[in-house]
Amino acid sequence: MTLTRRQLLAGGAALGIAAGVGVPLALGASSTASPGGVLRSTAPLPTPFRRRLHLPRVLEPVSTDDGVDRYVIRQRLASASILPGLATTLWTYAGEFPGPTIVTRRGRSASIRQINELPVSTVTHLHGGRTPPESDGYPTAVVEPGEERVYDYPLDQRAATLWYHDHRMDFTGPSVWRGLAGFHLVRDEEEEALGLPSGARELPLLIADRSFAADGSLLYPSLDPLLGVPGVLPDFVAGVLGDVMLVNGVPWPVAQVEPATYRIRLLNACNARRLDLRLSASGGDVPFVQIGSDGGLLAEPVEHMHVTLAPAQRLDALVDFSALAPGTEVTLRNDLDGGAMGAVVRFVVGRGERSRFRVPDRLAELPLLRRSDAITTRTFGFQAGDVHHSAGWLIDGRPFDPDRIDAAVKLGSVEVWRLRADFHHPVHLHLAPFQVLSRGIGGPGPFDAGWKDTIDLRPSEEAEIIVRFDGYRGRYVFHCHVLEHEDMAMMANLQVE
Ligand code: C2O
Ligand code: CU
Ligand code: CU
Repeated sequence: MTLTRRQLLAGGAALGIAAGVGVPLALGASSTASPGGVLRSTAPLPTPFRRRLHLPRVLEPVSTDDGVDRYVIRQRLASASILPGLATTLWTYAGEFPGPTIVTRRGRSASIRQINELPVSTVTHLHGGRTPPESDGYPTAVVEPGEERVYDYPLDQRAATLWYHDHRMDFTGPSVWRGLAGFHLVRDEEEEALGLPSGARELPLLIADRSFAADGSLLYPSLDPLLGVPGVLPDFVAGVLGDVMLVNGVPWPVAQVEPATYRIRLLNACNARRLDLRLSASGGDVPFVQIGSDGGLLAEPVEHMHVTLAPAQRLDALVDFSALAPGTEVTLRNDLDGGAMGAVVRFVVGRGERSRFRVPDRLAELPLLRRSDAITTRTFGFQAGDVHHSAGWLIDGRPFDPDRIDAAVKLGSVEVWRLRADFHHPVHLHLAPFQVLSRGIGGPGPFDAGWKDTIDLRPSEEAEIIVRFDGYRGRYVFHCHVLEHEDMAMMANLQVE
């Protein structure tokens, strides 16, 4: 696979290479919201807010003996009705998109048997999981069609909104786009002690933009429709943006809510699209009270009137509908787009008894890592390749090579990583959550609180993160989570020794 990529980078995609270079130079200084090109659907687009929001089903374990929750998931083709009157074939976990939600508790491990009944090879990664290397879904650790693999997750980690998705070398973009993504929620005592809204008042929302052909099938601009050669057509080298907003697999859904406080967990599962989300209502915007980030609860709640989410980032927030009159429409808007993509989902407040959750002042113990804890500082540059050397998307001028270790770190040590970006690059580290120390010459941004596993780096931005490499020894990756950048080699090896 590396060979095909090298061949590709050596010349086959000269146009793509040029586009990869041109985009950051041309747009880096502008206010471009998201990387990439919009892939236009040829199917008629549905009218927003007609179909009901649906929540992914919670998967039942097949057994719970010896402190291990065992699950079985068949990865298979499935047909879904996403657009009116049309059928869409998806690549799914257990026949569903999003895949079924897995809910586990800290202190119990989960063991998930993934059976590949798809026509393509897959790799399953638990994003945000502190996972031994054999089960982390290394990009080349593929499960071929007709084969299966058991992924073991000790999950000795804080309660958090994790998600699982495909991570196949060179082809993560098309695989996730076709449906291979789902939630994995971890719970623990610290979170349960807060008595947060739960059951029907806890809404995990997987937001994903997609594009559809006239026959209802998903469009994706692969260079090679048979996926023998990685990469996308030149217009999309900076990222693939869809023109239909799906929430839990439903285009622009509508949900009836009670006049109560809800816990809403947002996941940006778009390949490349950034989101700037706001809850808009006729009487004024409704705030998000952020209680958690990628890596679980914050120390204390933070109120936001809007929230940006880069691909792979999560937000855990309380939203209080209790003061709103029955019939009030609250629309989750995306201010980075003015058209149809400027809306995401609508909530309509129902009649029912009012119930307001009092948000505690303190949420969790959150140790702050200090710069003085770090034993070393490393710098990584995330940049487009240039035509004269290797192209695609690079880290420190090099394309991903599974055989080269780019960062060898000591188990248990703390490091500061200085990350520089030429363009939009949401940088994600496997295994180790981090805290944001600085952006440019300033402190962390408004959405950087708590433990993160993905940082939203914008054009020409530099940020410092501080990370403790706890958990396991072995080989992991870090990469840009714009999936087209990741597939075009913006990935590197992290070896914990
Ligand atoms: Cu969500 Cu390495 O990815
Ligand atoms: Cu990950
Ligand atoms: Cu990137």
